[in-house]
Amino acid sequence: MVTGPTSGIGRAYALRLASLGYDLVLVARDQQRLDALSDELSRRFDTRSQVLRADLAEAADRDRVAARLGEGVEFLVNNAGFGLSGEFWTVDPVQLQAQLDVNVTAVLHLTRAALPPMIAAAKGSVVNVASVAGLVPGRGSTYSASKAYVVSLCEGLAGGLAGTGVRVQALCPGFVHTEFHDRAGIEKSSIPKRMWLDVEQVVAGSLRDLDADRVVSVPGAQYKVLTTVAGMIPRSLQVRMNRAMFNARNRT
Ligand SMILES: NC(=O)c1ccc[n+]([C@@H]2O[C@H](COP(=O)([O-])OP(=O)(O)OC[C@H]3O[C@@H](n4cnc5c(N)ncnc54)[C@H](OP(=O)(O)O)[C@@H]3O)[C@@H](O)[C@H]2O)c1
Repeated sequence: MVTGPTSGIGRAYALRLASLGYDLVLVARDQQRLDALSDELSRRFDTRSQVLRADLAEAADRDRVAARLGEGVEFLVNNAGFGLSGEFWTVDPVQLQAQLDVNVTAVLHLTRAALPPMIAAAKGSVVNVASVAGLVPGRGSTYSASKAYVVSLCEGLAGGLAGTGVRVQALCPGFVHTEFHDRAGIEKSSIPKRMWLDVEQVVAGSLRDLDADRVVSVPGAQYKVLTTVAGMIPRSLQVRMNRAMFNARNRT
């Protein structure tokens, strides 16, 4: 199962898994794009896909997706997620709650639903898409907080799952060319070219790290360096440096 496969990282993950022979369950809101992807996967890779239209900000939809996971899947990619622009104190609280529900609640419930059949089968993989923003304090507040939750959840779970045959990963990309920034209304022109990754690079890095049993996957040499160096600096200093170096306004 891949959530959010209608564009960006999720679409690349779905294509890659189909190319490896997996039949897929595709979960997102855009029915047309879901159907088009399902057709493309069957044409290109001869795989069968189940389309589950769901808004993961809605509890009833999350429950339907969780029920499907309870029947068992081999591989779950909790990828659906979004950012917001605007100041925390001016953004509509309904939007803030929806972001928390998609970026965190859905990841929590769907991971919880997927694990029992995987553990029973002694085999399975859960990739939860977090972000470099979840590792290093940066611009923004609720987005980084939601991704820090995902990192922490996976790190904790990895310990508990040791020896079960089930792998869990927090995939932490930096800037990736997708629809993410346009959807969020985030200005991209100030981001240096060398900091951009493409979706295939992110998926390849994730799969390599799964094979290596690496729980936190940071694709791209530039981000490996950045997160390693940041990890050596005390958190309080990171926060102060971040305040001095970046304009943290207009991001949530
Ligand atoms: N792009 C980056 O720079 C970057 C960096 C680090 C981490 N990430 C993370 O990577 C993940 C994928 O983002 P992306 O960059 O590939 O962005 P994207 O191109 O905007 O794709 C987002 C996907 O999530 C789905 N989605 C969004 N809200 C949803 C909802 N309420 N219910 C169900 N599906 C929903 C969208 O499908 P529908 O619109 O069809 O529902 C779409 O398929 C996110 O978790 C994001 O936080 C992105």
